[in-house]
Amino acid sequence: MSGISQPGQSGAEKVIDGKAFAAGLRERVARAVSTVSGAQGFMGGFTPGLAVVLVGEDPASQVYVRNKGKQTQETGMRSIEHKLDARTDQDTLLTLIADLNADDDVDGILVQLPLPKQIDAQSVLDAIDPAKDVDGFHVINAGRLATGGAALVPCTPLGCLLLLQDRLGDLSGKHAVVVGRSNIVGKPMAQLLLGANATVTIAHSRTADLPAMCRQADILIAAVGRPEMVRGDWIKPGAVVIDVGINRVPAPEQGEGKTRLVGDVAFDEALAVAGAITPVPGGVGPMTIACLLRNTVEAACRRRGVAVPEM
Ligand code: GUN
Repeated sequence: MSGISQPGQSGAEKVIDGKAFAAGLRERVARAVSTVSGAQGFMGGFTPGLAVVLVGEDPASQVYVRNKGKQTQETGMRSIEHKLDARTDQDTLLTLIADLNADDDVDGILVQLPLPKQIDAQSVLDAIDPAKDVDGFHVINAGRLATGGAALVPCTPLGCLLLLQDRLGDLSGKHAVVVGRSNIVGKPMAQLLLGANATVTIAHSRTADLPAMCRQADILIAAVGRPEMVRGDWIKPGAVVIDVGINRVPAPEQGEGKTRLVGDVAFDEALAVAGAITPVPGGVGPMTIACLLRNTVEAACRRRGVAVPEM
C-alpha cells in the first residue's frame, strides 16, 4: 500500500496496525522455531532459549519481563528468568552474565533496562557475548550495524523498519528524519534507514527550527519521550509518521487519578495530515517483543551455523 495520502483515504486506512503486524511476525517466528526444533523433521533440532535478567522491582520493567517470558513460551522457545534484588552489585551481575555466556543452552541474553544506579549499564551490556546479544546493544553489534556487518539489531528500531517497509515497500530516496539520538532507538534507527537507502537526518532537542526540519520528512520517526511534542503542522502532507514514544499522562476527563498513554506525536492533528501513522498504544510497542523473539531465533541459528529460516 502506498504511504502517500490518497484523496478520500479514511483515517482508519492511515493507521498502521502494529498489533496485527506483530501477531503475524510472532506466527512466523513460531513456525521458524518449529522448523529448527525438529518438529518438521529437521535433523539435529534445537529449541532456542532466551534468558531475561531483571534487577529490582520497577513496575514497568516487571510487566515487560512477564510479557517477554509469556511470548517466548508461546512461540515454542525456552524462557529463562533471573530476578535479582535491587541492591545487587555490578560484580554479581557480571558473574551471572559470564555464566549465561558459557551456558550452551542459552541463545539470547537480555538485561532489562533501566538498571539501578550502582550498576554501569554499558559495562554490563558489553559483557554479554555479542552472539547472544538479542537486544543489539553491545558495542560490537552497534559497530556491525554501522558498518554493514551481520549485526543483531535493536528490537524497537527493527520493528519500525519492518512497519515502514510493509507500508511503503522500497525506502530508496525517501528523506527520513529521526527525532531523537538515543543508543537504543535514534542512532540504530538512522543506521537501519541508511542501510535501506533512505536519506537520513538525525534531529534532536538542540536542532535549530525542529518543526521546519520535520516538515522536510517523507518518513518521520519520533523517539524523544516527550508527550505529543510533534504537532500536526510539523508534518509534510502524506508523510509516514512512526511514533516510538510511550508516555503516561494524567487523564482527569476519565476520572480522578486516571492516566492514559500517548506518544511523542499529537495523534489526531497528525492523522489529518499524514499519509500513515502508528497509534499509541498498538503501533510500535507490540513490535519490540516480536522482534526480540525473531532476534533470538536468528542468534540461535547463527551460533550453530544453521541457516536462519524466513520470518
Ligand atoms: N527497557 C525498555 N526497553 C527495553 C529494551 O528494548 N531492552 C531492554 N533490555 N530494556 C528495555
